[in-house]
Amino acid sequence: MNIVEYLQSEKTRNSIVELIWSNRVQYHIFENVDKMRSAAAHSYNYFISQCVHNNQYISFTDLAIRHIKSIYDDLFRTIARLNLRSSIAEVEKIVIDHRAKLIAELKLCVQADDYKIQHALCSEYSGDFQWQILRLDEQKLIEPILDVGCGEKNHLVKQLRLAGYVDVFGVDQYANSDRSIICGNWLDLKFKKGTFGAIIAHMSFSNHFARQIFLGSAKQSIYAQKYHEILESLKEGGRFMYTPALEKIESDVDLNRFDIKYYSNTCDRNLDTVHVVKV
Ligand SMILES: C[S@@+](CC[C@H](N)C(=O)[O-])C[C@H]1O[C@@H](n2cnc3c(N)ncnc32)[C@H](O)[C@@H]1O
Repeated sequence: MNIVEYLQSEKTRNSIVELIWSNRVQYHIFENVDKMRSAAAHSYNYFISQCVHNNQYISFTDLAIRHIKSIYDDLFRTIARLNLRSSIAEVEKIVIDHRAKLIAELKLCVQADDYKIQHALCSEYSGDFQWQILRLDEQKLIEPILDVGCGEKNHLVKQLRLAGYVDVFGVDQYANSDRSIICGNWLDLKFKKGTFGAIIAHMSFSNHFARQIFLGSAKQSIYAQKYHEILESLKEGGRFMYTPALEKIESDVDLNRFDIKYYSNTCDRNLDTVHVVKV
């Protein structure tokens, strides 16, 4: 079942209606704005995880992220008004409206192809694992460091901090209470020239880029532009470290300005780790 079918399914809708209705006397706690925001952020993240676990290539624009967050804020503001006298039909209407708004957002964001791919599974990897695959022991990184597509749990950001790095940031479409993690789309993020000492993207940016190339999609030129913007945002001596490799794109990198180093992970060259260093 893809995510849209899931949202349209009567069975899951009925179980959510039942859950909300049976707890209706408790939701007045969401009249407190902080509690409402925290519950809404939690549910927003649950929705994103349902999407990316169904199909890891689903991603949302910054605008859609704002809309979806506000759909969840509205939901919790609405259920805060429920009480013992609220009928199950009233709850059903709230859930149906909420799901209709989510489906409308999803349809705007998801490429037609994304409906077909199911079980393109998305995983998050431990900090240790990413550290080894990215060969982070090979050199001291220059700060600030940005982890692009850091995941809901931002394991590598935490690992980098444990290793003594201080200026460490992340970006992902998941909401995060850590203020150094931006909730947004990497394609909407402006990478300013000469800003970062290190940019990391483990199984994220280049994986999505490779898929756009594979699909022959128009979006690949947006990815190519962003790739070069990322390289330009490096400080001198700074490096962009990622996996999987993108040989088609790396062959366009100006070797007078950047060094490229490959580290093999398996016998498949496409799965290499790449370091592009601004010289
Ligand atoms: C396979 S996970 C990898 C996470 C982390 N780098 C790791 O190795 O554990 C890919 C991550 O990219 C995020 N993602 C996908 N498309 C995105 C986009 N356009 N902008 C921001 N994050 C995105 C997903 O939410 C997911 O957390």
